[in-house]
Amino acid sequence: MALELTLTIIKPDAFSAGHAGDIIKIFEANQFKIVAARLVNLTRSEAEGFYAIHRGKPFFESLTAFMSSAPALVMVLEGENVIARLRETMGATDPARAAAGTIRKLYAQDIERNAIHGSDAPETAAFEISYFFPGIELLASARAKQL
Ligand code: CMP
Repeated sequence: MALELTLTIIKPDAFSAGHAGDIIKIFEANQFKIVAARLVNLTRSEAEGFYAIHRGKPFFESLTAFMSSAPALVMVLEGENVIARLRETMGATDPARAAAGTIRKLYAQDIERNAIHGSDAPETAAFEISYFFPGIELLASARAKQL
């Protein structure tokens, strides 16, 4: 088991619908510890930078317009194997394919307005955490050494 950090975003659809509290309760029930949080209202260019890996895909314009349309709650979560465990808790990208009880099954509207983002691998988590929280990797590694 490895102590990891991951980046999650409660996206504009779920945040504006008032689901942030319910989603955070799910994090807490799974022992995902919130170690940083920011309420952001992304510019289009910030959304494009975050999702740069998807540039050129058919959904890129619509996705970045949606992500910059309203406030979103960005958090760093810490926990044992939290990257994979958060992805399981989120469910499939398309809520129509998400398992019962997952966050996307409960709160997502469609494949784009899908309530939540979670990093998909350690390298992605490192990039995504530093995108929103420059310097936090150092804080986390210092804390991990004390455990
Ligand atoms: P996320 O996990 O944040 O990663 C990329 C996002 O792009 C994804 O969630 C969805 O919001 C969106 N996305 C992925 N695939 C599609 C698709 N086929 N059509 C529309 N949006 C998509």
